Amino acid sequence: MKNFVYNIPTKIFFGKGQVKKIGPEILKYGKKVLLVYGKGSIKSNGIYDKVIEILKAHEIEYFEVAGVDPNPRTETVYHGADLCKKHGIDLILAMGGGSTIDCSKAIALQSKYDGDFWQDFYIDRKYKLIKDVTPVASILTLAATGSEMNGSAVISNLATNMKMGFTHDRLKPVFSVEDPEYTYSVSKYQTCAGAIDIMSHLFEQYFSVEKDGFLQNRVIEGLMKTIIHYAPIAIENPRDYEARANIMWTSSLALNDLVDYGKESTDWATHQIEHQLSAVYDITHGIGLGIITPAWMKYVLSDENIHRFVDYGKNIWNLSGSDREIAEKAIEKTQEFFISLGCPANLREINIDDSNFDLMAGNATFRGRIGSMKKLSKEDVIEIYKLAL
Ligand code: NZQ
Ligand code: ZN
Repeated sequence: MKNFVYNIPTKIFFGKGQVKKIGPEILKYGKKVLLVYGKGSIKSNGIYDKVIEILKAHEIEYFEVAGVDPNPRTETVYHGADLCKKHGIDLILAMGGGSTIDCSKAIALQSKYDGDFWQDFYIDRKYKLIKDVTPVASILTLAATGSEMNGSAVISNLATNMKMGFTHDRLKPVFSVEDPEYTYSVSKYQTCAGAIDIMSHLFEQYFSVEKDGFLQNRVIEGLMKTIIHYAPIAIENPRDYEARANIMWTSSLALNDLVDYGKESTDWATHQIEHQLSAVYDITHGIGLGIITPAWMKYVLSDENIHRFVDYGKNIWNLSGSDREIAEKAIEKTQEFFISLGCPANLREINIDDSNFDLMAGNATFRGRIGSMKKLSKEDVIEIYKLAL
């Protein structure tokens, strides 16, 4: 096992009614808050009113960035950062799903920086220039990305058709509220996309060529089984508390570093391949992953890495047979599961053809080859898009 530093500082308030704890928690950082939220779900399900009531009771002044897009944009980041600078914001409170939380983190970066966050951090990765960020906290309303407990922020730049993630420890939320009841209003479609996103985060950290990671992979398998068990239940009955609670906590544990500490390598090619689909076609991240993942699995499977597919097939799907049979059947089972949740089977079903494969594959690999199960070139990525057509 590789050396690692365990650093998961986000304080989690998990369960029914936990939002009541945020008043004193916010006051640890100051009295001026920037509220960041999406297109209105928090207003229709009552979360907004509840939070405002708490802020007023604690005499906390608030400003707002409303209307964050799914696949959040650079423009919203600049707007939010201007508000932070103008009003001397002490804490950014994201209320929503991954898009809102990611947007808040990027605002946090830009709010304490005079240069351009996109060019300097997302493109040029000048980590050393980050001296300070505004603290971010979140009230999670959609279980999917793990953004509520990690340091990543994925932003889309429409001017260059690029969607990219950036990760820094300072961007980990200082606290997050996870109330499973807040996810009762999430649609079947977004519940399906969220479940697939969580599965994909687990795949990205499970599938590696190295034969290390015994402990990490057993934890990952437990998390995968939780999603396979509870996602269909939440889709069937959106108000099933146990299902929503299990999915919500799994979303956080799947991508807060816990399962990759100590591992030799992780993959993450599928995410980079999907991000370019979302950048060009503005599709839902989890749906893109549901279509790309089986294609990626078929493309990378080789004698060198088949052991990992065999573990996956035996431990998750109880398969038996030759290694090849188990691996191929496991890929089939994965796709069947995604389709059973409501995910389209291929790109054609969401009206995507091959016209942008070259552009997207170029953007996915602009720093060089991606992935670890198989190191993928631009040409490889084009082949994966073709397999997903
Ligand atoms: O905008 P509102 O009205 O809030 O509606 C949202 C949005 O339309 C809605 N929604 C959220 N909570 C709801 C709800 N509707 C009803 N009831 C609720 N309680 O759901 C829609 C999707 O929201 P979004 O935040 O976009 O979804 P998600 O959480 O899946 O986030 C996706 C974004 O996160 C990025 C993705 O690429 C994508 O841009 N990711 C972030 C990661 C990270 N920070 O670590 C990792 C992931 O791999 C991912 O890349
Ligand atoms: Zn994801």
